[in-house]
Amino acid sequence: MSAQPAGARPGRRAVRVTANEQLGAYNVLRVDDPQMGELQAGQFAMLAAVERWGGGEDERPFLARAFSVARHHDGESSYLLEDVGPGTRRLCELAAGDELWVLGPLGSGFTAPPQGRRAILVGGGVGIAPLAILQDALSAAGGAVSVLLGFRDEARVPGAGLLRDAELATDDGSAGHHGLVTDLLERELRSDPDAVVYACGPAGMLEGVRAICERDGVPAQLALEAGMACGFGACFGCVVPRRGGGYLRVCVDGPVIDAAELDRVELHAGAPA
Ligand SMILES: Cc1cc2nc3c(=O)[nH]c(=O)nc-3n(C[C@H](O)[C@H](O)[C@H](O)COP(=O)(O)OP(=O)(O)OC[C@H]3O[C@@H](n4cnc5c(N)ncnc54)[C@H](O)[C@@H]3O)c2cc1C
Ligand code: FES
Repeated sequence: MSAQPAGARPGRRAVRVTANEQLGAYNVLRVDDPQMGELQAGQFAMLAAVERWGGGEDERPFLARAFSVARHHDGESSYLLEDVGPGTRRLCELAAGDELWVLGPLGSGFTAPPQGRRAILVGGGVGIAPLAILQDALSAAGGAVSVLLGFRDEARVPGAGLLRDAELATDDGSAGHHGLVTDLLERELRSDPDAVVYACGPAGMLEGVRAICERDGVPAQLALEAGMACGFGACFGCVVPRRGGGYLRVCVDGPVIDAAELDRVELHAGAPA
């Protein structure tokens, strides 16, 4: 869990980009950020470029954008980015030496499976990012981990290089299983119904994972995404309906939410497809 009380306004810091590497259709942005400190896999940060962070004729500043921390060690954080709009495009342009505003770590992350139970990590598209740091943490603790990743097409398949030993599914059949990553999950659960599932990806994929796990009585933790304005519980811009009534704020009650808390994953609550 974040040490920051929900709704309190935390401070952002300026950090320096150390590298920006292309990984197929994605970029891996590395930043020197020793103040990130200890974090839980699944937590995120709000990012904004220090220079040229705005649009339109008056260069009106954009809000900061939310990104999962894909890795953090030796004071360096990395983020996996997909250019889907003006904010991500600007971040994808950054080069070593450029400055970035960072607010984080924010939200609550994944919790480890009970002793002796295998973790199955299921990622889709750019949603694989928080599974990289999760794989590192679970492997370091000596747990059994399987990784299933789905991508839309050949251009996105190199993203799988962010994790180790991943089994792939692709919509276009360019790598691995020709079909959905949830087909791989169903097969894995048939051979190990005691596994615990961890997923992040587009809303359709998350809803598929949620429904399979509910049907099979398998515990699942889902890293949701939702449009975020503040990132720390103040604006209620990121709410999703909670099972049994009321709402969850994805930025403070999540982004990682126990699947049992949701009736279904709403369409806007996943990574861009
Ligand atoms: C907790 C969290 C973690 C995230 N982690 C990553 C990550 O690791 N890598 C990454 O590339 N992106 C991640 N995202 C999504 C990222 O924040 C958005 O892609 C980004 O804000 C888009 O900004 P933009 O200005 O480029 O495009 P915009 O013009 O703002 O959006 C482009 C398109 O994407 C849709 N969109 C924007 N934000 C979201 C969202 N949060 N959920 C679903 N659809 C959205 C918009 O509706 C629009 O269709 C994460 C989002 C959240 C909430
Ligand atoms: S983004 Fe403001 S409350 Fe969640």
